[in-house]
Amino acid sequence: MSKSTAQIRQEFLNFFHSKGHQIMTGSPLILPNDTTLLFTNAGMNQFKSIFLGQETPKYTRVTTAQRCLRVGGKHNDLEKVGYTARHHTFFEMLGNFSFGDYFKQEAISFAWELLTSPKWFGLPKHKLLVTVYAEDNETFKIWEKNIGLPFERIIRIGNNKGGPYASDNFWQMSETGPCGPCSEIFFDHGDHIPGGLPGSTEEDGDRYIEIWNLVFMQFNRKSDGTMIPLPMPAVDTGMGLERIAAVIQNVHSNYNIDLFKTLIKSIMQITGTTKIHDQSLHVIADHIRSCAFLIADGVLPSNENRSYVLRRLIRRAVRHGYTLGAQKGFFFKLVSPLIHVMHEAAEILKTNRDKIEEVLKTEEEKCAKTLKRGLFLLNQELKQISGNILNGEAVFRLYDTFGFPVKLIEDICSERHITIDKIGFTLAMQEQRQRARKASGFNTNSNNILYITHKSKFKGYDFLQLHAMISMIIVNEEIVDTIYSGQDGIIILNYTPFYPEGGGQIGDIGTLKSHNDTHFIIKNTKKYSQAIGHIGTLTHGKLSKGETVLAQVDEKNQKSIRLNHSATHLLQAALRLILGPKVTQKGSLITAQNLRFDFSHDQPMTQQETRQVEIIINKQIRRNLLIEAHVMELNKAINLGAMALFNEKYDQYVRVLKIDDFSLELCGGTHAHRTGDIGLFHITSESGSASGVRRIEAVTGEEALLHKHYSYDILSKISQLVKSNHCNLYKKVSSLVEYTHILEKQLQKLQHQQVIQESLLLRKQSIKIKNTQIIINHIKTLEPKMLRILVDNLKYHLESTIIVLATISNGKISLITGVTKDLIHHITATHLLEYLANQVNGKGGGSPYLAQATGINIQALPTALANVKSWISDRLK
Ligand code: ALA
Repeated sequence: MSKSTAQIRQEFLNFFHSKGHQIMTGSPLILPNDTTLLFTNAGMNQFKSIFLGQETPKYTRVTTAQRCLRVGGKHNDLEKVGYTARHHTFFEMLGNFSFGDYFKQEAISFAWELLTSPKWFGLPKHKLLVTVYAEDNETFKIWEKNIGLPFERIIRIGNNKGGPYASDNFWQMSETGPCGPCSEIFFDHGDHIPGGLPGSTEEDGDRYIEIWNLVFMQFNRKSDGTMIPLPMPAVDTGMGLERIAAVIQNVHSNYNIDLFKTLIKSIMQITGTTKIHDQSLHVIADHIRSCAFLIADGVLPSNENRSYVLRRLIRRAVRHGYTLGAQKGFFFKLVSPLIHVMHEAAEILKTNRDKIEEVLKTEEEKCAKTLKRGLFLLNQELKQISGNILNGEAVFRLYDTFGFPVKLIEDICSERHITIDKIGFTLAMQEQRQRARKASGFNTNSNNILYITHKSKFKGYDFLQLHAMISMIIVNEEIVDTIYSGQDGIIILNYTPFYPEGGGQIGDIGTLKSHNDTHFIIKNTKKYSQAIGHIGTLTHGKLSKGETVLAQVDEKNQKSIRLNHSATHLLQAALRLILGPKVTQKGSLITAQNLRFDFSHDQPMTQQETRQVEIIINKQIRRNLLIEAHVMELNKAINLGAMALFNEKYDQYVRVLKIDDFSLELCGGTHAHRTGDIGLFHITSESGSASGVRRIEAVTGEEALLHKHYSYDILSKISQLVKSNHCNLYKKVSSLVEYTHILEKQLQKLQHQQVIQESLLLRKQSIKIKNTQIIINHIKTLEPKMLRILVDNLKYHLESTIIVLATISNGKISLITGVTKDLIHHITATHLLEYLANQVNGKGGGSPYLAQATGINIQALPTALANVKSWISDRLK
């Protein structure tokens, strides 16, 4: 039976105690006097002033188990959490420290003894290897001579992070403060696991895992980059408890150690899920730890700095819970199981249990409410949109403010045949990130962005299908080895013919197929740093990392996109010809259905201008010009006059798209071979999109033909309706419109006559109560809009009068009340209307003299009208 995590924690402390170290408690997650840190991120944080010589240590040898949180600042692991086997937001760091006592020699000997001695952790020596800072010969020699590690298992790592002292083997706590070279100890999980040696390009694989970092503190880094030697050299070491437990317990993923296994079992019970492999369980298990400890250490969820991180963590966990099918109010229930698994480290949780549960419960309720409110706002937004695309900013608002998963927004929209503007969404997200970075003062980034270091090569300029290898799979925002039937996910390939969303062009759709009939349906393709991700659903079978698949782009779709993209270039050139060279591109969206092009121009285009643009473009189409792409140096491209986007950052080498003598633009998109492929270009709308920016939407190829057919069909239907042919249609419709005007005028005249007659009749039927004329009537044959004219007419002829009229039209009651000026001290028209409207389920309003409402309860009308007389009478003196 291997050691439990709790035993490992205790053994570590005991070992160093036996070597003269004082066992101290770790600090809280927030260090109140340190503004360089968002959260405690290492065991040494609480000893910073000792390292800097500002405080005299009580003990020169110390050991701790320190709770840490890496979700902001220099050491930020949030983006990796749940996606890898061994990243956490919250983790425990076991450490030993020497303040001017021992240095490299003893630190290394202690570490080696604890790891390899059969009395302690007893790890096989041949499975261990180390890295040292390239210039640190002393440390190299200690490993080689004193410990006896073969030199090929001592790897030197230099300044591999782009600057002096910027290295994986030079550790610093934050941008400023104590720092020094370090030596890291790695465990080799064996050659059946992919991954290369530390420092190699494959180092991100899972084979060699860092388990312990020994830092030899030597400098204080100042904000201007200068390095001041520390008053005394010191040692700071850190070993992730969860990682070493995984090694000792012989499991590959941290989430399989005893602590997490028990916790995950409880999460499954509480959420009611049976999906033991669901990565959401990891996210929840990780986040309940960070959230509970943060609250115990005094952080409460809100929208500022640390509190915002906590809020995001809770909401992320809650959302993952709901995807597992958890009932509302599940998250706080995880506090008890957490206390159970944390053993000695749970003291602070026990003391604060009530508070933690209460805060989590309330925040989850808020989160559920926000989701509900977001749904309401989404519906409002959808009611208002004019086209069939929900703008990216609205999507981002729902995502950011209401924690709405984008997928959920997409699903709701697709039920109404609305798509979401993903490019606009990404832009809004980028802007927000920049704002957040500026505003927070910390380099935090708590959005769930995938952290992917793989590279994919785009082959879509030449191929629409090819065989490629799966280099990464992401399901539920986690990196997994295999994706199973029914799961949504993102698949990264080493090569791909799929174009990733970018440069205004939408991502490709299509399928990945493997030899055993497995289908992964791709709904979109996107770039994640240098990798290209295929987003979709596995419909049957399973796919694993390392497998080869046939990647097939939906050819018809991609071909339509090409036509639209090439047409966009023609459009830009044509606009500059017609409107002048001041026209510059402000944005574009190129899909298979149509193209959208935004450009600077401060007035609407005339019909003649849009027509000319269409004519010029169709002329270039008929010229059947060659469309060619050349890669060249940026300077050369600009000198040739290639159009570039002002705000865009380009690489040294760029792709230039040339359409014969007509257009030259920098462009990474996919294009037709010749302009003739476009077939037909048709502008469907010209509108304003922002101040000084116009927007043209257009269609090409078959879609343009469809539009033409649609317009023609409408004309035919109208011709049939008005019994004409296309040639005479305009004349026929004009005369019909003219005739309608004449009829309207006649109708108005008749209606006025009717009002006069009704008015006479009503006056005759009026009754008198206490010197006041009362007219109450249900008029059968009057247009509702004439009621007001009738009341005005009655008031013109009568004094001291109260009028109540009703009429029914289209299944609705129209009510009107009128009161002459002299009576409004007793009764107002609005008060009277309210009395009536309440009875017929109606709504309305007006002034003290005149008020109108519509009601729906027709059955209640006779009684309401019958009651009104006595109601009025009661109110007259
Ligand atoms: N402070 C060092 C680290 O966090 C040990 O890796």
